[in-house]
Amino acid sequence: MSQDALKQAVAEAAVREVQPLLEGDTIIGIGTGSTANLFIDALAQYKQDFDGAVASSEASAERLKAHGIPVYDLNGAGTLPVYIDGADEVNAHLQMIKGGGAALTREKIVAASSRKFICIADQSKWVNLLGEFPLPVEVIPMARSYVARELVKLGADPMYREGVTTDNGNIILDCYNFMLDDPLTLEQRINDITGVVTNGIFARRPADVLLLGSESGVQRLT
Ligand code: 5RP
Repeated sequence: MSQDALKQAVAEAAVREVQPLLEGDTIIGIGTGSTANLFIDALAQYKQDFDGAVASSEASAERLKAHGIPVYDLNGAGTLPVYIDGADEVNAHLQMIKGGGAALTREKIVAASSRKFICIADQSKWVNLLGEFPLPVEVIPMARSYVARELVKLGADPMYREGVTTDNGNIILDCYNFMLDDPLTLEQRINDITGVVTNGIFARRPADVLLLGSESGVQRLT
């Protein structure tokens, strides 16, 4: 099976997973990326069954609106029952690296505001140890050089992601060679650097459910 077919399978499994939560006034959280896009497309046929969605990026908001699914501001939506999103890496503790699509900050905010986080991923994202995927860090533009020097002190090789401005108007530093054997501590340490908005380690708020697509089908891990 191709990677796209595995993503499609997990997207459809995620729709089945959220269906029991859909009621007339339900607003769900939806993430960003190619797997989240497939989820949005598969969910669209049930748009009459729920109220709408909060999106973690402008791109996902546009896709939802194109399907006729109302998009809400998180501030007026309260606590969401569920957030569905992909990942760049995920481990057995359901901790993740995210932000390959530069949406990490809004993803973290929507995930924090949701009771349940369902991660949807194909098997290429499954790792024993996080960190082979370069860790994205969202940074206030004027702090770029300072934050890069601080990240070097923590052991990383940061690279400026050229030509990318986040939905929040910031820049991304992709960090290579981080030692990620203690994701919780590193998540906090990076966030403590002045000028960092947030980083792509999702350890403090891991997923609650992982739908992992492999050749043998979609596994559900909790
Ligand atoms: C975007 C993300 C995505 O969830 C992550 O990059 C996975 O993307 P895809 O589903 O395209 O593989 O964190 O910021």
